[in-house]
Amino acid sequence: MTKILVATEKPFAAVAVDGIKKTITEAGFELVLLEKYTNPNDLVKAVAEVDALIIRSDKATKEVIEAGRNLKIIVRAGAGYDNIDLNAATAKGIVAMNTPGQNSNAVAELAMGMMVFMARGNFKGVSGSELKNKKLGIHAYGWVGKMVANIAKGFGMQVYAFDPFVEKSVIEKDGVNVVSSVEELYSTCQYISLHIPANEKTKKSINFDLISKMPKGATIVNTARKEVICEDSLKKMLAERPDFKYISDIAPDCHADLVSTYDGRYYSTPKKQGAETSEANINAGIAAAKQIVNFLKNGDRTYQVNK
Ligand code: 3PG
Repeated sequence: MTKILVATEKPFAAVAVDGIKKTITEAGFELVLLEKYTNPNDLVKAVAEVDALIIRSDKATKEVIEAGRNLKIIVRAGAGYDNIDLNAATAKGIVAMNTPGQNSNAVAELAMGMMVFMARGNFKGVSGSELKNKKLGIHAYGWVGKMVANIAKGFGMQVYAFDPFVEKSVIEKDGVNVVSSVEELYSTCQYISLHIPANEKTKKSINFDLISKMPKGATIVNTARKEVICEDSLKKMLAERPDFKYISDIAPDCHADLVSTYDGRYYSTPKKQGAETSEANINAGIAAAKQIVNFLKNGDRTYQVNK
């Protein structure tokens, strides 16, 4: 029987697993579940006998992909697919997909919550500031960026965006101001919300040159990937600009250096939680299962990322 492995070191909510199971079994396939594994070798072993794989931030390395003797498709239930070795998948003729948009609202809500948390002194009872009338820069206008922009307008923020891959008119239709360069975005906005993927071009691209352009009272919110920020620049900015704040959904490698020194100006969630809602798990998990069923039954390659 065709087997679909759901391998999640950080499991989906039980209600999402039920939905994934229903989708898979109704299609006549079998669900294999590997949750909360701590050793990457467990994934290498589990993938050996399956036809399809659903993952979250789990690493689909070359070793995992090569171990999948019958593997035809990998779906990352979520947005970022920097955890899949796309070259290894392509070399083996394996289709890789993501599920764009399915968990975006959860991430967008967290980004807004993080802005409020920093503006209100980490909820420690001190006098803070409001988001209303402040300028927010959305760095990359994909699914999450668009949703953050929409919620931020409800807060009365003035929203700006930079994304060279999205037509100006598409962004402007949402009532968002388009700037012509990334430098302009950072020099204009007191708040920046990062939504760029992690790839060879973007890693460490948020550097001192860029962030030091931000106006007084600058706050960067990172619900994207820890790799996009240059950590030396982050440390320099925190040291040189007492007005600067950084909040992240993924701890940078230098977390231990920052947490004690910059209390109130630096915060990181203990574990990535942008997509940790039952709604996001249901949406992304079931979408992943449906995409696999459609691919295996009808050859549907919508959302393939290794074309
Ligand atoms: C994504 O890329 O979709 C988010 O970073 C969520 O990742 P997660 O499923 O591991 O929480």
